[in-house]
Amino acid sequence: MSKSSNPFLEITAPGIEHLRPYVPGKPVSELERELGISDSIKLASNENPLGCSDRVRQAIAAEWPQISRYPDGGGFGLRNALSKKHDLDPVCITLGNGSNDVLDIIARVFLAPGYESLFSQYAFAVYPISSQAAGATLRVSPAIDYGYDLEALLNMVGGKTRVVWIANPNNPTGTWVNDKTLENFIASVPANVIVVVDEAYIEYVDQPDYPDASRWLAKYPNLIVTRTFSKVYGLASLRIGYALSHPDVADLLNRVRQPFNANSLAMAAALAALGDDAFVNRSVEVNRAGLAQLTAGFEQLGLEYIPSVGNFVAVNLGRPADAIDQALLRAGCITRPIAAYGLPNHLRITVGRAEENARFLSALGKLVD
Ligand SMILES: Cc1ncc(COP(=O)(O)O)c(C=O)c1O
Repeated sequence: MSKSSNPFLEITAPGIEHLRPYVPGKPVSELERELGISDSIKLASNENPLGCSDRVRQAIAAEWPQISRYPDGGGFGLRNALSKKHDLDPVCITLGNGSNDVLDIIARVFLAPGYESLFSQYAFAVYPISSQAAGATLRVSPAIDYGYDLEALLNMVGGKTRVVWIANPNNPTGTWVNDKTLENFIASVPANVIVVVDEAYIEYVDQPDYPDASRWLAKYPNLIVTRTFSKVYGLASLRIGYALSHPDVADLLNRVRQPFNANSLAMAAALAALGDDAFVNRSVEVNRAGLAQLTAGFEQLGLEYIPSVGNFVAVNLGRPADAIDQALLRAGCITRPIAAYGLPNHLRITVGRAEENARFLSALGKLVD
């Protein structure tokens, strides 16, 4: 059925009519079924190529007999562990069904028709989706060299602005903002505008002046920092993330949060994952080496890429990426075209294990030579 023929469009809430659903990366099983292959590699969704910690597997095995019970709606154990990790009172922590859930809760609390939601060109797709679903007006500041221009973003803050979204680093570009620039920005934003700093990829960043914005929470009550267990901790399927904020902000987020939005397997897994620094360190190391391997490969192929500090990198193929993506799929390599972000010539590659990166580079080399 075409969208224009959908009779229910007339009765939707404001903003829904022009909303386009988020298109996720293709699951391995679906691709393999379609192509009749069995050894594909997925470098499409910024997941951890090492899987997850063995401790997580054990924690899930211990927890699953309880799955007929509702989870602890307050997330006591996990919030306490996160409170120690971040040196913040547990009341500052709001759990989510993935950090996307937390982002959506923020939008529902602070955005509505007549209010403005601000973000940069190329910003993570969930900001416009959640903002538009809440009926807010979207305002987009132009990027510089694919990265955020916080001065331009600041100039757009006005009386109707309620939320500004900053992914640091940003997905799909892998660009980042340094501590001085980010803190100056937060300090300059009026106290009645919420600044969300989305740190989904923080663990991968290896830059001396990269900020952990959670350090500034006591100074800026309008700041919300979001984190996830989907990336370096390898728990993407379980859906668990969280927000760190001033208790007054957390109070509002909790009014909208569904009572059992964080499930018990996810919370047990997250708790176990927090206790395995060795796994995190290994994941970061594999990513560092893999990112270097991919970018060296791009250079050899004469392809430009956007320098990234995350677990992915966007490469410019100098021609529409869709056709190359299709050919890569036939070679069993699932990557991510990012035309929806206004980057039709770029392909986003998640950093994989060395052998996966090598196989991808070899397949790409055959297509762009
Ligand atoms: C910048 C950014 N924020 C948030 C998320 C959401 O992650 P999750 O909902 O799995 O926690 C992602 C996922 O790709 C992301 O790239």
